[in-house]
Amino acid sequence: MAPIPQGGTVAVTGSAGFIGGWVVHQLLEEGYRVRACVRDANDDDKVGFLKAMPGYASGRLSLHSADLDQAGCFDEIFKGCQGVAHLSHVSTYDDMEYVKRVCDHVINSVNQSETVNRVVVTSSIAAVMSESDMQELVRRPVLYEDRYPDEQNPKRQANRGQGYSMGKVLAERAFADAAEQSGRWDAITCCPGDNVGPILSAHQKNFGPWQHHIETMLLGQYSQNVIGAYRAWFTVDVRDVAEAHIRMLESVNVRNGERYIAWSTETRNVEDVCASIDRLLPELGFAGAELIDPLPESVQAKEAQFRAIWGGCELRNDRICDTLGMAFRPLDVSIQRLCGNAHLGRGR
Ligand SMILES: NC(=O)c1ccc[n+]([C@@H]2O[C@H](COP(=O)([O-])OP(=O)(O)OC[C@H]3O[C@@H](n4cnc5c(N)ncnc54)[C@H](OP(=O)(O)O)[C@@H]3O)[C@@H](O)[C@H]2O)c1
Repeated sequence: MAPIPQGGTVAVTGSAGFIGGWVVHQLLEEGYRVRACVRDANDDDKVGFLKAMPGYASGRLSLHSADLDQAGCFDEIFKGCQGVAHLSHVSTYDDMEYVKRVCDHVINSVNQSETVNRVVVTSSIAAVMSESDMQELVRRPVLYEDRYPDEQNPKRQANRGQGYSMGKVLAERAFADAAEQSGRWDAITCCPGDNVGPILSAHQKNFGPWQHHIETMLLGQYSQNVIGAYRAWFTVDVRDVAEAHIRMLESVNVRNGERYIAWSTETRNVEDVCASIDRLLPELGFAGAELIDPLPESVQAKEAQFRAIWGGCELRNDRICDTLGMAFRPLDVSIQRLCGNAHLGRGR
């Protein structure tokens, strides 16, 4: 299928979010027209930063209220768009029927538009590596695009903490299948790693969650990794993820159903992330912070084993580098910018 034309119109779901905000920003920088989809276009605490972008005053950026729980919510917004970057979360990942239903809401609006020819679906590295049995990471330690979590494991259930990764895999397939059926558009998946880097609006510091963890470090107390117990951070700068989305919309080399992992392949334990702050920004006078381990005792007893399993994983990003020509910022640069623009609470 054709990529989107240079300077075409792109709808971005989840535009008020950490990554979505950067996708909007970079699309505008590159000359596109953007329809930013948010749940409430009048909630200036969340969308004020979008309205402050120069494209808003000139009309190249417009804001649209849409709740993807409502069927038809994107029908009018997608008409006339050539691209959709679907970054928004859903209301819950615990109910797969609901997740499928809201995918269908977006898909139906894409089909009805008759103008959209490419959708980038934002998934996650969870859809690559979130295992119910850690030994699966020993058996298949290479983390690359064609790897999926062991879907045959009976413990792979939403009520056992796997809803997010299950919902993401479901969404990837729902979009690729629908695109193939339509024959008019294609769906390409982006699986970002742990996003760090500058926030564009104060409210974004509370989510993420990685930028939130860095804020808690600056405030004096931070937590051991709960998502993927004792896993190092598998990071990517949020600005690189935004760029990857745009390259996926523009590329002539991608095919329907393909997925691209967006991460730098750099890994750093949470303790070392915290220690990096003083190393990178001594002028902050950061005295360090207390590490809390909220994991259950039974998991804490396996700390060394879990660290060894994660340490044995091999992170790959060849596909995105080779096909899209991506290069990723080092983690030090992201931390420097995130803490250095500082405050986290004061936006850009
Ligand atoms: N951050 C990471 O490290 C990371 C890593 C891997 C994958 N991802 C994926 O990347 C995407 C963006 O993540 P993010 O960190 O930017 O998240 P975020 O800051 O929490 O933003 C997500 C956005 O989703 C929107 N949303 C939630 N429920 C919605 C609904 N029912 N209808 C419409 N919009 C809804 C929210 O919109 P409003 O603000 O307008 O209410 C919010 O701005 C997500 O799909 C996430 O799974 C993120």
